[in-house]
Amino acid sequence: MTSRNALNLVAVVGVLLGMPLIATATPPKGNPVAGQKIFVGTCEICHGPTGRGDSSMAGYIKTLPDLSSTKTQQKTDAELRRTLQKGHGPDMVGYEWVFNDAQLDDVIAYIRSLKR
Ligand code: HEC
Repeated sequence: MTSRNALNLVAVVGVLLGMPLIATATPPKGNPVAGQKIFVGTCEICHGPTGRGDSSMAGYIKTLPDLSSTKTQQKTDAELRRTLQKGHGPDMVGYEWVFNDAQLDDVIAYIRSLKR
């Protein structure tokens, strides 16, 4: 085998190995910076600036979750989306009519960025 063929082989194997990686590692859809703007305007009042329930509402709402926790972070994007659309428990309303799909992607990306 000439060195040139060897190089071609490396390139082909590299492409073959790389393809499934690219296919599975889909980049996150939302933009966390845009999501943070929504969060600060709409969610921070309850969830607090860091999403850990560190808000002035914490004294009134005892069930505030820590959005940076494993419990929240291990939820799938689809589960988080459903919570945002339909609400959660008696204290969090649904935002189905407030935010469109792209905005929900942004908020979910922001929630992911809170992961410890
Ligand atoms: C009025 C206060 C309030 C507002 C505003 C609010 N939430 Fe919540 N949220 C809660 C409470 C309370 C819970 C927990 C409800 C329960 O478990 O019964 C919750 C639950 C959640 C959960 C589920 C966490 C988990 O582990 O399943 C997510 C995600 C979430 N909120 C994100 C948001 C986002 C994003 C916004 C803004 C678009 C928002 N919330 C606005 C009070 C609020």
